Formats: sequence, C-alpha cells, structure tokens
Amino acid sequence: MRNVHHITHPLVQHKLTLMRRSDASTTTFRTLLNEVSSLMAYEVTRDMPLQDVEVQTPLETMTGQMIDGKKLVFVSILRAGNGILEGMLSVVPGARIGHVGLYRDPTTLEPVEYYFKMPQEMAERDIIIVDPMLATGNSAIAAVTRLKQLKPKSIKFVCLLTCPEGLAAMGKAHPDVDIYTAAIDRELSEHGYILPGLGDAGDRIFGTK
Ligand code: URA
Repeated sequence: MRNVHHITHPLVQHKLTLMRRSDASTTTFRTLLNEVSSLMAYEVTRDMPLQDVEVQTPLETMTGQMIDGKKLVFVSILRAGNGILEGMLSVVPGARIGHVGLYRDPTTLEPVEYYFKMPQEMAERDIIIVDPMLATGNSAIAAVTRLKQLKPKSIKFVCLLTCPEGLAAMGKAHPDVDIYTAAIDRELSEHGYILPGLGDAGDRIFGTK
C-alpha cells in the first residue's frame, strides 16, 4: 500500500522482537518502547519543512536551516498512546500534545468520544497520531475523522504493530493518512488482538491486567 511506511531499521526490529517476548518485564517493555518511539519519530518527521535562518557562529555568519511553521502536535489515543509520547518527545521536545479518549459502546460497538483536548491553532499544525496497535482500526478511524474537523495541515499515524485488517480499514476510511509501523503482523484475532502481536499494549506499558 502506497501510504504505509514499514520501518525496517535493524534497531527498531531488534527492539520490537524483545518487546514481543512474554517474559519482558514492565520496565523492559517501557524502556524499549521509549527507544523504538524515538527511532520512529526520526522517520516520521523526515519530511518536515525547513526554513533558512541566519546564524552567527563563533567565526562567521552563515545560513542554517531550522524547522518551519508552528510546532507539530502528537495526538495520543488514550491510554496506550501515552506510552509512545516520551520517546517521541525525546526527539521533538517542543511538540505540542493532544489527547483523544474513546470507548466502545457495548450495544452499537461504535467508538464513543469521552475526552478530546487539543492545542490551539490546529489548522496551522501538522498532526502525528500515536497508538501502539492499529488492530480493528475503529479508534484510529474515529480519531482521524474527529481531527479532520479541525482542518490541520496534515495527519500521520504512527503505530508499533498493525495487521492487514487494520491497514485495510484505515486505508478505506482515510486513504490520505500516511501510516508508519514497525511491523505488519499476520492477522486480527476474533477477539480483536493482533497475532502474533505482543498482547495488550496498555497492560504491558502500565503493568495492569
Ligand atoms: N490492542 C492491543 O493492545 N493489542 C492488540 O493486539 C490489539 C489491540
């Protein structure tokens, strides 16, 4: 798929494999997630626009380049998305942060928004949505649909793992959104888990069960 960026960097793949291990502790899982997230931030920000700026070195004045435009926004889909923020912020410390909270209505099975808080001037910003797992795609699709109402400059989606079902759903609903992932696993289980996957990302990040 044209808008799917599979990040195959050896460091990302090595760390992801360690994260998949069922015996990885919460501390290990979090440390690795921070490391992988910062490597993925590097890839997803590769095409950020630059502007020329004059800089005075100790020896001369020269024209350097700096990131152009308003600070970008990382939007975390609660709660597992929060696990990706620290690593991303280690690379882009000035980024703004938004949060989207969604739950699944038990009768309609549709995602329902319970929290939505964004920085100001979203129409002038680029958005990078973060959520470790793009599984059914329901939350991701709902988050993108909601964020598009704010008419941002661009929207990208970063996850650690996805599966063909999640990519197909997102690609159908939002073909204009680029997806960055470290792995495309075999399939989605009937219970909504990615297989072989790494289990429940939120539980593994926060040490819950
Ligand atoms: N969310 C998770 O945390 N894990 C999955 O495998 C799928 C969705």
